[in-house]
Amino acid sequence: MSKIVVTGGCGYIGSHTIVDLIQNGFDVVCLDNLVRGKRSQLDCIRAITGVEIPFYEVDMCDRAALSSAFEAIGSVVGVIHFAALKSVPESVEKPEWYMQNNMLALQNLVETMLAKQIHHLVFSSSCAVYGNPAVLPVTEECPFSAPTSPYAASKQAGELFLKQVITQNAAFHCSILRYFNPIGAHPSGLIGENPDSATTNLLPLILKVAMGEQPCLFVNGDDYETPDGTAIRDYVHVCDVAHAHVLAYKALLDSSKKTLQIYNLGSEKGYSVLEMIHAFEAVNGVKIPYQVSKRRAGDPAAIYADASKAKKDLNWLPLNGLIEMLGTAWQWAKK
Ligand SMILES: NC(=O)c1ccc[n+]([C@@H]2O[C@H](COP(=O)([O-])OP(=O)(O)OC[C@H]3O[C@@H](n4cnc5c(N)ncnc54)[C@H](O)[C@@H]3O)[C@@H](O)[C@H]2O)c1
Repeated sequence: MSKIVVTGGCGYIGSHTIVDLIQNGFDVVCLDNLVRGKRSQLDCIRAITGVEIPFYEVDMCDRAALSSAFEAIGSVVGVIHFAALKSVPESVEKPEWYMQNNMLALQNLVETMLAKQIHHLVFSSSCAVYGNPAVLPVTEECPFSAPTSPYAASKQAGELFLKQVITQNAAFHCSILRYFNPIGAHPSGLIGENPDSATTNLLPLILKVAMGEQPCLFVNGDDYETPDGTAIRDYVHVCDVAHAHVLAYKALLDSSKKTLQIYNLGSEKGYSVLEMIHAFEAVNGVKIPYQVSKRRAGDPAAIYADASKAKKDLNWLPLNGLIEMLGTAWQWAKK
């Protein structure tokens, strides 16, 4: 059977996507340098699916090592590329590392794919490419605005690079998926997110407070022009995001589709920080003490997706609501 390579498959979204791919009959190979992911994720994937995944430990910034890995893997039809560094505050501290890792890994991947006549790529992008959007909900037509972090800049650069590749290679098919805020964990409780210590994402911070690792949550600003004054974001369950990759990949294999597709993946619902805190307390029965602090520079007041294109073209439907997102996240964190 022809294989699909998942890069960054030992990470959060990659591991959930591998589970979904296996459950849809795909023959998956995982590639990761373990800079953030854990090899033990593959044992958890085996526990969920009963399938042992071939694994190649490779730094994708090493072009020769990447090429050798593809040589060893054999016949590959396509790639889902998750491998990247993703921490916004870390990217501000180490911008060169972020740009180099995220861009070089992508460039090496595309060169390797073209050399080996592999023409199907699904690329992980982010709503961070929209910056501070002027119109809500955000559609895929919304232009990029000034990146608010080196991480966002690396995703914009990745997308622009892929657009060039497609212009020059008519046979190359690519789907760019722009995630809003994936949260939650697999219902088995075996795989979930291992947030970096410097994370500024809301749910990992709520979880730290719930676990007693921090006494209270700092709410960054309550003077935004939103109903309760706190910032509004779109949250989407990681299993729904994972399933969108399976659908996008299947659509790519259908050569009648255009060579470049871009899809927003969000629940299309905006929840404020206070709504998220109160929902977490209600779903999990855990109190989250909080304190209001200053706004963070560059944070938009509100951003949520128009995901109608993914719904229409891919038949994607986010099935999980806040109860599943917050319940599975807490179940995973407690483990
Ligand atoms: N989680 C989110 O909130 C979110 C939101 C928008 C976009 N994304 C994007 O989705 C993708 C996956 O995110 P995630 O949350 O699963 O992150 P993650 O950190 O859990 O997983 C990324 C994986 O990539 C690997 N990796 C990084 N650089 C590599 C390299 N040079 N060579 C080989 N492997 C490398 C890491 O070891 C890790 O296992 C990333 O591209 C990220 O930017 C994530």
